[in-house]
Amino acid sequence: MDFDLVIRNGTVVTASDIWESCDIGIKDGTIIAVGPNLPAKAGVDIIDAEGAYVTPGGVDCHVHLSQVYEAGVDDLERSVVTDGAIPDLPNYVADTYDTGTRSAVAGGTTTVVTFASQMKKDESIIPVIEDYHKLAKDQSYCDYAFHVIITNPTENIVENEFPRMVEEYGITSVKLYMTYKPMRLRDYQILDVMYSARKLGITTMVHAENTDIIDWMTKSLEKKLMTHPHHHGTSRPPIVESEATNRVISLAELMDTPILLVHISSAQATKHIRDAQTRLLPIYGETCPQYMFLLADSMRKGDFEGAKCVCSPPIREDKADQDAIWAGIKNGTFTILSSDHAPNKFDHPNGKQRGLQHGNLPYGKFRHIPNGLPGVETRVPLLFSGGVLTGRVSPQKFVEVTATNPAKLYGLKKKGSIGPGFDADVVIWYPQATFKPFNLTNEMLHHAIDYTPFEGVEFKNWPRYTIIRGKVVFSHGQVVGKMGYGQFIRRGKSLLPGPRDVWLSEWRP
Ligand code: URP
Ligand code: ZN
Ligand code: ZN
Ligand code: ZN
Repeated sequence: MDFDLVIRNGTVVTASDIWESCDIGIKDGTIIAVGPNLPAKAGVDIIDAEGAYVTPGGVDCHVHLSQVYEAGVDDLERSVVTDGAIPDLPNYVADTYDTGTRSAVAGGTTTVVTFASQMKKDESIIPVIEDYHKLAKDQSYCDYAFHVIITNPTENIVENEFPRMVEEYGITSVKLYMTYKPMRLRDYQILDVMYSARKLGITTMVHAENTDIIDWMTKSLEKKLMTHPHHHGTSRPPIVESEATNRVISLAELMDTPILLVHISSAQATKHIRDAQTRLLPIYGETCPQYMFLLADSMRKGDFEGAKCVCSPPIREDKADQDAIWAGIKNGTFTILSSDHAPNKFDHPNGKQRGLQHGNLPYGKFRHIPNGLPGVETRVPLLFSGGVLTGRVSPQKFVEVTATNPAKLYGLKKKGSIGPGFDADVVIWYPQATFKPFNLTNEMLHHAIDYTPFEGVEFKNWPRYTIIRGKVVFSHGQVVGKMGYGQFIRRGKSLLPGPRDVWLSEWRP
């Protein structure tokens, strides 16, 4: 066999197996052979893995880049005055495709799925998709695909444009919000989306939080001057997530439609997902490293420092919630681990520090803090170092939730595993004996954000090489890939179980 590149002597891990002293033979960006002592002709590139773990490149299917949100600061204020609603979104995220995917490859992620977001006023999602294509084209270091966020599911969109989204644009998933004023859908609208999604084999992602509880609690807390960043968590106790999770599972059961509950943070919501799976419903769960590695005390720091850890759902108070998330990763309740990279600068008037505006308090108002954390670079190393190397999860489970399952769930057929025919997207780790553990500082990261919620966390390993389609893009701490190397990936339908044709009444679609 003719190879362009051979990776020698790795401990190669897939979602099911580990092979020691194993080589990987790569030709034209594709893996064509896996096994011991592959023959390589003179002149073929060789990388010696020196016995270290070799894992599939990370597939991160929840990444916000160059994303525009509906409301700006002034609009937020006005809407409070006019209708009493509680707006709580930033109007953009601070990483572009350039900086965000540079950060991804430096942390062992080789494919990201980002969001093209409809605004409520948009009557068509086709220009939205085209716009995000323009933002990403020639700007990405790693391969990428899109989900579409649906904020106004008109009849034309769900009936006529969803089929085009799937067939013409290769986009086979949408995200819906049950909270955030500019984005949330009523249950009726969620059913409209699910009805069409079922027919077309679209995977529906849902941000499940009860918006009215959040609004009511936030107003009440403000009256009591309980507006410190950590009261973001006070306003959204686990029941907020649990109620909405249970409700949207019910809608999905009625419609016999597969859904993915995104960024699950609590034991209660995990149990709803587990129970639905036990009843054989096609309900999938996603969690994120912040819910595994952080607790709510991270939001209590200082007058305002805690704003750095404000995301939704909030990082939980109770260690029992964290333990339930770990258990859910281990027992398969969570299909995937994503970063939910939603980057806002800290020291910026339109970033986290917006929370200090309009407050007259040293700790401002949590309501004005843009939600979301940066984490696309730390996701894979955190679970490897804090999960595999501590013995909390197996190497195979690590591969399953960071690469294989995300690829299967979202129809990325050539991504997420190591075997003949897969894209040669590979991470080579350091041989454990040679690695000097270090404590993370934000300066080490490659995003455009001025902080990381994981500052100071000890890492016992880190990707030594990141390889995309046979090309080294990150090596020994340096990004060596080029912006624009990343390609848009058209996706197929989910490879995981879908509708069952089980109905709750005489009604049929
Ligand atoms: O707090 C979060 N997660 N912000 C990002 C937007 C979202 O809900 O995914
Ligand atoms: Zn969300
Ligand atoms: Zn308090
Ligand atoms: Zn998100």
